Amino acid sequence: MRIESLLTEAEISEEFAEALEARDLPEKFFYWSPMSVRAWQALSRDLAFESCLHSWNLLVHDSESIAREFNQAISVVSLGAGSGAKDLLLLKALEQAGKQVEYLPVDASMPLLERACAAAEEGEIEALGLKADISSPVHLVLISDTPEHPRLYLLCGNTLGGFDPLDELMQLASCMRSGDRLIVDAELADGSALPSRDHPVGRRFALAPLTAIGVGPDDGEVMFELREDDRHAGLEVVTRHFHVARDLRLRLPEREIPVQRGERINLNFNYTYSPEAFRWLLAERAGLHILREYPSPDGRYVTAVCARSR
Ligand SMILES: C[S@@+](CC[C@H](N)C(=O)[O-])C[C@H]1O[C@@H](n2cnc3c(N)ncnc32)[C@H](O)[C@@H]1O
Repeated sequence: MRIESLLTEAEISEEFAEALEARDLPEKFFYWSPMSVRAWQALSRDLAFESCLHSWNLLVHDSESIAREFNQAISVVSLGAGSGAKDLLLLKALEQAGKQVEYLPVDASMPLLERACAAAEEGEIEALGLKADISSPVHLVLISDTPEHPRLYLLCGNTLGGFDPLDELMQLASCMRSGDRLIVDAELADGSALPSRDHPVGRRFALAPLTAIGVGPDDGEVMFELREDDRHAGLEVVTRHFHVARDLRLRLPEREIPVQRGERINLNFNYTYSPEAFRWLLAERAGLHILREYPSPDGRYVTAVCARSR
């Protein structure tokens, strides 16, 4: 298995301590430990998973159209690849369409990155895993310089929704060259984003990074909120925070962080979008040309194929 690290475990540990000091935990820590990975797998069965898979399968069935956008060889760069299970369906379909495929799963989570590489190996697809932070503009540039062939970027499973979508898409688009393509998906705002997350399985996922350092259910409560992002109509975000119910000392390997009763620790968040807001993000904000869209039949999910337009 070949894995290159732009982000070491020591760096992630240090970032985790700094994030706790700042009371603000970004998305990458919610997949970092094996406990978080298990909690994510349980939650993803509850989320708009079926709708996401329907939309993805429609795209995979149309992989000939994607294959036609490339000459012989494609470097498939999956940003936030997770276990790589969905990627593998597309990789196989592209091979069947006659393309030579190189797979570069990118993830900050070592357990998930290893799974993505192992899945590719089992499928006899050449793979190079990149352990990196896809919210870092510097890492995005280094990632985009790695592949040998024109790139097909994947940003799927509502991965975009875990970041500021305005910044993330701009940074990614600026790394794309004219022959590259991006496949990105979105959970559409239909009123179900909050109820599909605010339940015991969703709370376990949200609390997992703190559970891993000894925080228990009596130490506080995970609170969810649905907000509009007033930078553009149709952008909604589900935020989560941990409301601390009693004074705590969070014990990390090399430091102890005191947290007082009544404090709030921001957890990760998820964006959902109206179809118009998602198109605005891609076309106006990131300067991408939307070539095709694959909406799930129930209208909860859409996957788009894009190219650079400027
Ligand atoms: C919502 S999951 C989606 C996984 C997969 N693409 C799918 O469709 O099932 C998000 C993935 O992004 C990864 N991730 C989150 N923040 C990241 C970051 N800053 N850098 C790299 N990977 C990150 C997580 O480890 C996780 O594998």
